[in-house]
Amino acid sequence: MEIIVQTKEMQRRAEQRRREGMIIAFVPTMGYLHEGHLSLMREGRKRGDCLVASIFVNPTQFGPAEDYNRYPRDLKQDLKLIQRVGVDICFTPSVAEMYPDGFQTFVEVERVTQSLCGISRPHHFRGVTSVVAKLFNIVKPHLAFFGQKDYQQLIAIKRMVKDLNMDIEVVGMPTIREPDGLAMSSRNAFLNQKKRKEAARLYRSLVKGKELFAQGERSAATILQEVRRIIEEEKSADIDYVKICDAHTLEDIEEIKGEAIIALAVKMGKTRLIDNIILKEE
Ligand code: PAJ
Repeated sequence: MEIIVQTKEMQRRAEQRRREGMIIAFVPTMGYLHEGHLSLMREGRKRGDCLVASIFVNPTQFGPAEDYNRYPRDLKQDLKLIQRVGVDICFTPSVAEMYPDGFQTFVEVERVTQSLCGISRPHHFRGVTSVVAKLFNIVKPHLAFFGQKDYQQLIAIKRMVKDLNMDIEVVGMPTIREPDGLAMSSRNAFLNQKKRKEAARLYRSLVKGKELFAQGERSAATILQEVRRIIEEEKSADIDYVKICDAHTLEDIEEIKGEAIIALAVKMGKTRLIDNIILKEE
């Protein structure tokens, strides 16, 4: 496996692979890797000839009071893991390499980033779409893989690629969970044993919501009431939002028609966790 830290060198290597006729598959990450990340890489390995993973904790997607400095990092362990899944190139630039002095250009996707996490994290998605646009220009992938766990991020990136005519196939991948249902996340490392156990409640609440939908319930308010009730049984769970929205526009809906998602963000102590489940007529 090759490790590249310079953007120019990554671009040269990507161009070379393209000239050789290779399909470049790309998995961007912020590191502290778990099975969720690795599942994207395994799919990339299957679908591409050259698999690139990036590890970069992107400062522009964290708010001033958020956990950028505390975000967990373990490059040595990450490199071991990605080598095992067959990554060809690991791109791991420094902050100065990605944001040199004078940097002032951002990519902003408007409507789909305004609801859900966009309310409590107002500049987050602008940071995400900007860094992903930069990474796309550096890695030059044909295919890029993103998890449905960060559903709003996936929709925003698909929108950006379409609106800016980027010639890249964005592939959404299912959420990988711990045995008790908690969605895998680098931030789960912040949970103490007690909070970690309580966090499984979030997925249980989503499953209950989906069951009500499967039984024919179509009122968002009725389903949300039950989902909230399950979360609020845990006194230390602090709900940022629990919403049912259209799976494409991410706008709130009252009656569920077509494809929808139940999405939530809940703080367990200091740790903010997100999760979602898709509601679709079988
Ligand atoms: P990060 O949180 O490291 O996640 C990298 C990718 O892994 C994202 O596409 C995310 O949706 C996916 N992922 C995380 N947990 C997952 C799980 N349990 N199951 C399946 N996929 C999962 O998301 C980011 O980094 C950043 O915002 C990034 C896109 C790299 C831009 O900085």
